[in-house]
Amino acid sequence: MQRDHREQLNLSWQANADAWTAAVREQRIESRRLVTDAAIVQAILALAPKRVLDLGCGEGWLCRGLAEHGIEAIGVDASAPLIAVAQQAGSPRAQYRVCGYAELNSQAAQLGRFDVLVGNFALLEEPLAPTLNDLHGLLAANGRLLIQTLHPWRACHDASYRDGWRVETFAGFAEGFSQPMPWFFRTLESWLGLFTETGWRLQWLQEPLHPESEQPVSLLLLLSSERN
Ligand SMILES: C[S@@+](CC[C@H](N)C(=O)[O-])C[C@H]1O[C@@H](n2cnc3c(N)ncnc32)[C@H](O)[C@@H]1O
Repeated sequence: MQRDHREQLNLSWQANADAWTAAVREQRIESRRLVTDAAIVQAILALAPKRVLDLGCGEGWLCRGLAEHGIEAIGVDASAPLIAVAQQAGSPRAQYRVCGYAELNSQAAQLGRFDVLVGNFALLEEPLAPTLNDLHGLLAANGRLLIQTLHPWRACHDASYRDGWRVETFAGFAEGFSQPMPWFFRTLESWLGLFTETGWRLQWLQEPLHPESEQPVSLLLLLSSERN
């Protein structure tokens, strides 16, 4: 079952690549426009990194933004169509490659080491522990892992507060999303337990709020490695 969910998750990002690219580039997602884009960029810039690896980079907006600040940014994503549009958008300091998280280990020598590894709404699967274990090998000395994810509070208005697979239909996004996306919901306790299990120490946690509703939009977590 878990394998079916992961396959459908992967398939959805192939099929929805054009619709996602339009939604991001036309800034159609209010929470991103008002809150989460700025939150992740500020958190990265505060760390003053030279090299950043964007895990699940999508159409590449974050790498392009970081490149404008003189940061060498590499984006990896399992979706070939999303990597293609990221490459077309071009930016001298940003590079992209098709690479699923399961292949990061075998590509570590070519990728090199990074001051910041970032996953912006991109760590969506279960099990996630193998990926979190592998990420230690990509971290430069004193490097950090930064994760932004949907705030668990926000995802539970009409669902139980328990770990489990959910389905995003993209109904509120725009037209053109042909495939629903399974994603794995984690409680805060579960996220923190996963970090302990995989050797990541929490440095800080932020809960960016929607400016009008003052509800938490995302969870932003900064982690350091206990293994490097
Ligand atoms: C919600 S999108 C976020 C994209 C981008 N981080 C952003 O902020 O716009 C999730 C992305 O994660 C990628 N992704 C999900 N699971 C992945 C995996 N196992 N390996 C590589 N990429 C993955 C998807 O292909 C998709 O581009």
